Amino acid sequence: MRAYIVANNPLPEKRGLDLNSVRTSYRAWAPVYDKTFGAVTSRGRRQAIKHINHHHGRVLEVGVGTGLSLKHYDPHLEVTGIDVSTHMLAKARKKVQKRALNHVTGIHEMDARAMEFPDNHFDVVVAMYLISVVPDPEKVIAEMARVCKNGGEVVIVNHFAHEKGALSVVEKVIAPFANKIGWHSDFAIQQTQGSKDLVLREKSKCSPLGMFTFMRMEKQAA
Ligand SMILES: C[S@@+](CC[C@H](N)C(=O)[O-])C[C@H]1O[C@@H](n2cnc3c(N)ncnc32)[C@H](O)[C@@H]1O
Repeated sequence: MRAYIVANNPLPEKRGLDLNSVRTSYRAWAPVYDKTFGAVTSRGRRQAIKHINHHHGRVLEVGVGTGLSLKHYDPHLEVTGIDVSTHMLAKARKKVQKRALNHVTGIHEMDARAMEFPDNHFDVVVAMYLISVVPDPEKVIAEMARVCKNGGEVVIVNHFAHEKGALSVVEKVIAPFANKIGWHSDFAIQQTQGSKDLVLREKSKCSPLGMFTFMRMEKQAA
């Protein structure tokens, strides 16, 4: 299997997050991630993978992190994971090895904004809790659409900004600290809907407390 390494990313940084901050932030998160944020978000991950297990063929998980999802994919799938954090990926690789997850055929250090995969390559492309932590979310969605086959699905699980209520106030207060916390708290769902190749097929709330959203979009032939 070819190794994909992205050392220096040439893309401009946008929206208050930059790749170095993301790497620094997830270096700190890596040792505690599975027992903290990873544990709180397990339901959304399980919901997405339950859906994906009905598909066949190649799955790409973008921002695979510590690989919490990997053991949940059915063995009939061929799963590839990418991430920019060396420290998160080290945890993922350890899980693959320890649990002999043979359906995981590749774990690569790669920037989701410039993926080194061919067009129309994967049957499903999924990003869980990623889209509000990347520096350029529209570019990531465009890349996810590009590498997805026509008729395939792009699946997203994420927290999106509340339009009103107490949570929307908290999200706005935290927003300027995006680089410190590695997360864009007031991220609008509309930012995921810019690709002309993707048609929204389902959108529903996930636990806990409906804080997260599960979305699937179908890639249509241009
Ligand atoms: C909140 S974690 C989610 C990890 C995993 N998807 C999960 O469900 O636990 C976000 C992950 O996105 C990764 N990430 C952030 N920006 C990225 C980028 N441009 N390309 C690839 N991965 C990125 C981070 O390194 C981190 O591992």
